[in-house]
Amino acid sequence: MAAGIDDIAIYVPELYVDTNDFAKARDVDIDKLQKGLGIYQMAMVDNNQDPACLAANAALKIMKRNDISPGDVGRLYISTESSFDESKAMNAYIIGMLEQIYGDGTFAHCGGVETKFACVSGSYALYDNVNWIRAGEADGSYALVVVSDIAKYELGSSGEMTQGAGAVAMLLNDTPRLLSFDPRVTATSIRDEYDFYRPFGKDTPIVHGQYSNILYLIQVRKALELYKEKVLSTGLIKLRSDETILDHIDYLNMHLPYSAMGRKALAYLVRHEWRQLPRWRGIVERMGMEEPLPDDAPGTIEAMLKDPDFIKKDGAFNHRLMETPEFVDIYEKKLASSLVASRMIGNLYTASLYLGFRSSLEYEHRKGIDLAGKRVGFGSYGSGSSAMVFSGVILDRYKEVLKNMHFQSDIEKRRKLTLEEYEMLHRGQMPVSEAILPGAEGFVLSDVDKTNGERSYVYNP
Ligand code: COA
Repeated sequence: MAAGIDDIAIYVPELYVDTNDFAKARDVDIDKLQKGLGIYQMAMVDNNQDPACLAANAALKIMKRNDISPGDVGRLYISTESSFDESKAMNAYIIGMLEQIYGDGTFAHCGGVETKFACVSGSYALYDNVNWIRAGEADGSYALVVVSDIAKYELGSSGEMTQGAGAVAMLLNDTPRLLSFDPRVTATSIRDEYDFYRPFGKDTPIVHGQYSNILYLIQVRKALELYKEKVLSTGLIKLRSDETILDHIDYLNMHLPYSAMGRKALAYLVRHEWRQLPRWRGIVERMGMEEPLPDDAPGTIEAMLKDPDFIKKDGAFNHRLMETPEFVDIYEKKLASSLVASRMIGNLYTASLYLGFRSSLEYEHRKGIDLAGKRVGFGSYGSGSSAMVFSGVILDRYKEVLKNMHFQSDIEKRRKLTLEEYEMLHRGQMPVSEAILPGAEGFVLSDVDKTNGERSYVYNP
């Protein structure tokens, strides 16, 4: 049975910080933010917003747009790493908000949980729900998977320049219009790590950013290896001797803690895949620099961790590779469109990969390319750490869904924050009644009870 994404909707909060202002305030070179990391604006939540109301806004948008009633939704899953409750799952909060619109008890049948594994948990939630549909358990109903996060780092930390906030809702069913997932090829890699984590009671994570970036590359490469084994053994893809798996994936979507990380990850995957091909020797010769390969574990990123000098040389090689016409070609054709939205919104943790997918669809469609039949690969990473690599094929009816996508109108109503306002919001000391945009459209918090922590939400039409 087919199963996949029927529609995808994003919710972006209406406030943002401009990196020109941020760079001045923190005395950071603007080129580091815009050229080095690829960040121009970072979406921020108001005093009266939390990840549950971002998620409920995305869920309501997709339900209204498709004229879906609660009875049509069999499961509602939420994936987040910005959870504010150790026990009550966030999908219960979302159902509470949606029932303000659709009526008390209208979602009573709708099962679901909150899933957690840093930025990769949304991919696990998608996979589980796709398999629920494939197993015939959905009985024609939809699964609604919502990924929602507030990427918040300590003031003055190096992670502060990679913040953002927002939610993506994905409607899954057995007759999808947008994308059908390839069966029996999803691959994972996992290992106990401390690259990024948020112990109980802390509202910002402890981050070893550079280490986390390297683990991201390692884990995605490992998952890609397993994905390759699976696509070959299932016969989904047949490789000629002068081809790699990347030749059979039309679009790649990578996890984007900041947009430039997507390009960097593509460069590592390209090196790994092209190294054994005849074309690689010519590329390296034209680059005028030999690829640094450690003696003990040739070609693996793991070996880099042992040697800081090696990391520098490896980074220099990567930068040079990214300037070659061969890399520019694969980057422009397969990845660049997925980075557009991330530059203007920033890090969305669980939602970053899917914001990238949504961005790729819209901006590739705008080029006038017929997307039907194109294979889309996903490289999902979550700290702690696990990666998931999977793929799907864009379906003939995709244009029915794409006609609703207009990223510029999703962000055009936003208001720029001053640095003082941003820092005040970041410290989180203001009551929810003192929002910067009190009448902002959609679900917002109306109260957080000081004695028992209970949250109340209202809907602003
Ligand atoms: N002009 C152009 N580029 C510049 C520059 C300048 N003036 N100054 C720096 N850069 C480039 C660097 O070369 C580097 O690019 P590269 O990675 O391709 O080499 C990039 O900008 C970042 O600079 P770097 O010195 O590595 O930044 P940093 O040490 O301050 O840390 C992060 C950057 C991303 C590691 C940090 O912001 C972080 O930890 N963020 C959180 C990330 C996260 O959450 N990860 C976990 C989930 S995956």
